[in-house]
Amino acid sequence: MKVLGINGSHRAGKGTAALLQAALDAAAEAGAETELVELSRLNIGFCIGCNKCLMQTSCTLSDDMEGLYEKMRGADAILLASPDYFGTVSARTKNFMDRTRPFHMVENVLKGKIGAGLTTAGLNNCGAEGTLALIDQWLATHEMLAVHARPEGPVLAPGAIATGFAGLDEAGRPVWRSVKGDAIGFAIARQLGTDVVALGERLGR
Ligand SMILES: Cc1cc2nc3c(=O)[nH]c(=O)nc-3n(C[C@H](O)[C@H](O)[C@H](O)COP(=O)(O)O)c2cc1C
Repeated sequence: MKVLGINGSHRAGKGTAALLQAALDAAAEAGAETELVELSRLNIGFCIGCNKCLMQTSCTLSDDMEGLYEKMRGADAILLASPDYFGTVSARTKNFMDRTRPFHMVENVLKGKIGAGLTTAGLNNCGAEGTLALIDQWLATHEMLAVHARPEGPVLAPGAIATGFAGLDEAGRPVWRSVKGDAIGFAIARQLGTDVVALGERLGR
């Protein structure tokens, strides 16, 4: 089973990448072949709205999306990660979503593939759930099978969200940490990787 992780952060290898990697590591431990793609390392132009994809399952632009289309076709599961920017995905992630329109208008190329979203944010309760909801909507549009992970035991959080907020100091100022310090977010990300592979096995992939 192939699990493709796509990171829509502008900062390769930083917080969002770490959260995505945690999910991919758990998927690999469960037996999957994994790959993490950093969108920021690729040359992917803006969708120009030419609407050619109303008639064809390919894009008129010629750039690094071509290779990514092939990776997505070959993947059994796609994990899409984005930082929370103003309560939604980063512009880089949104443009990636737009560029997947050729996989949707003539036929749903990604239909039946497994999918999941992950996000990182600066603050708690400041838009991360909206970011995950947008990724869920993208998965639903492509008729993908969305996995929402929940580790055993008490409910910890609504999804794979890691934040850099570590509370307030005595003066009431926020204390920041690396998102890697968010034990709950990373536990859910790992569970997500495990659950994605478990679903794949149930589906015979
Ligand atoms: C333009 C911009 C907008 C942001 N908007 C939010 C926001 O609405 N809520 C929030 O909690 N964090 C927000 N953040 C913080 C990022 O979500 C957070 O730093 C994230 O972990 C960065 O991921 P990265 O390490 O992959 O770059 C914003 C950051 C930037 C640069």
